[in-house]
Amino acid sequence: MSSAVQTIAVELGARSYPITIGSGLLDDGAPLRDAIVGRHVLIVTNEVVAPLYLQRLRSALARGDNKLHISILILADGEAHKTLDSAARVFAALAEAKANRDATIVALGGGVIGDLAGFAAACWMRGIAFVQVPTTLLAMVDSSVGGKTAVDLPQGKNLVGAFHQPRAVIIDTGTLATLPARELRAGFAEVIKYGALGDAAFFAWLEQHASALLAREAQAVTTAIAHCCEQKAGIVARDETERGERALLNLGHTFGHALETASGYGSLLHGEAIAIGMVCAARLSANLGRAPAVDTQRLSALLERFGLPTTPPAGLDADDVIGLMQLDKKNLSGRLRLILWRGIGQAEMAADVDIDAIRAVLTGSGAEG
Ligand code: NAD
Ligand code: GLY
Repeated sequence: MSSAVQTIAVELGARSYPITIGSGLLDDGAPLRDAIVGRHVLIVTNEVVAPLYLQRLRSALARGDNKLHISILILADGEAHKTLDSAARVFAALAEAKANRDATIVALGGGVIGDLAGFAAACWMRGIAFVQVPTTLLAMVDSSVGGKTAVDLPQGKNLVGAFHQPRAVIIDTGTLATLPARELRAGFAEVIKYGALGDAAFFAWLEQHASALLAREAQAVTTAIAHCCEQKAGIVARDETERGERALLNLGHTFGHALETASGYGSLLHGEAIAIGMVCAARLSANLGRAPAVDTQRLSALLERFGLPTTPPAGLDADDVIGLMQLDKKNLSGRLRLILWRGIGQAEMAADVDIDAIRAVLTGSGAEG
């Protein structure tokens, strides 16, 4: 049974929704059933998560309403499957279930499943309800909240997508018990991001609680998740479609997405790519005289403490990476826009950043930050 459940609201008028956080929530069908619209539920998950958690979720869902028609789609695991082909499988499953708009998709898994299932929900009959049940740390603190949904193309990550808010986010922190250590560490990159971009006190708290967090101590982990969700809920409520402030959540992402694509999806985890990307952005800021170099060192030290990489993988061509960065959604009229910072807790948008300065950071040449 769930204990010490916390609820955080994402305030978006008629589309507001709760983020419910607690251990054991998978067995508590109530928050999930409250969010279901219609007669059909399609649970989308993958071959790793299904054996661990599908039966519990399904039973909890079915317990309260035996008229609900529940279908299951189990996809292959991994970023390589966050594709239009997988979205087509979701559409086929909905068609097979004879679902119309009278249906809700439940995404059970990490960010790959959440982004993909959310994208399919945005498209099916021009938009149906969906619920996020994130099971990775990264998905709990970032991807499940805020309604960004997408699939990848060979040309780049998240190039096809939609803003489509979930009806609820249900975070069972107990699911983190089975998360591989490398995936947990990758999730902490996004946790550290919240401190780095806008909350120096949280950054300092992470420095103090790194050991407890890495040991998965429940209280520390739940505190960190709730803090990140609150910060993100506030930003999304103020800037749902990324006209301004929300772009700051992409600290490290322009570098990170390009590094992830250039090194081949799956070799760097998303969170690992973001860790490297944040250090590149911090180093670039220092090299451009916008931020103190000592803050880059503090960021690198914290990421390394969480076992995360902080330099681009060897063997990548910097100009290939820059070419991929130029595809980023934040760019305007062909001009590169990046999230840089003035130091810990102070991210900002920078337009027209000099390409030579970016190349220097990617190759490790130039001033040291
Ligand atoms: P993921 O979904 O691939 O999950 C990581 C691995 O952990 C997978 O192998 C998965 O099957 C496994 N797994 C999931 N839960 C588990 C559990 N409880 N126990 C054991 N194994 C488990 O990766 P991710 O890091 O969760 O998400 C990365 C994706 O999220 C990327 O595609 C990224 O673009 C996206 N993302 C989206 C947003 C957004 O705002 N929409 C934000 C950040 C990241
Ligand atoms: N992950 C960045 C955002 O949701 O805006």
